Amino acid sequence: MINKKIEKALNEQVAMECFSSAQYLAMAAWLENKGFEGTGSFLYNQSDEERTHMLKLFHYILDAGGKGVSPGIKEPKSDFKNLHEVFENIYIQEQKVSQSINHLVNLSHEEKDHTTHNFLQWYVAEQLEEEALFRSILDKLKMIGDNGGALYVFDKDMKDLVGQKNILKSQSTGSKI
Ligand code: FEO
Repeated sequence: MINKKIEKALNEQVAMECFSSAQYLAMAAWLENKGFEGTGSFLYNQSDEERTHMLKLFHYILDAGGKGVSPGIKEPKSDFKNLHEVFENIYIQEQKVSQSINHLVNLSHEEKDHTTHNFLQWYVAEQLEEEALFRSILDKLKMIGDNGGALYVFDKDMKDLVGQKNILKSQSTGSKI
């Protein structure tokens, strides 16, 4: 059974993943309105992924005998200057999530909670992947700048990325939830 300190920290992580999901949904809507349909669909998909991250934590808390709290979250940002600002915000958010996961890993170690420590390893690996992905997207956008033709190609590539991610997901053995 998890202790109260771990339960509180895990529920804070639930709220953080829930906020990421809401933020990426708001970004997807903004992108769709601006005609970036491929990038919008990538972020609708990313929003769904964040919800699976949230639910995985939520079910873990309950399975471990704790109390899962369905979080109230602040309203996400819904207006952006451009595509670059969207991805800069995402990268900052993902870095915050990684820090928070690292804090949880340290806490579970201090509390000698080996089960939670083991459970969190999935998130450690996931954050490494997510940070690398968003860093590479940001690098691409920096190269593209305001070039309309290149942005058009970028948007098409982002749509393809959704398909690739979904194929990888369906090929992976374990479910994420
Ligand atoms: Fe679930 Fe992208 O952090």
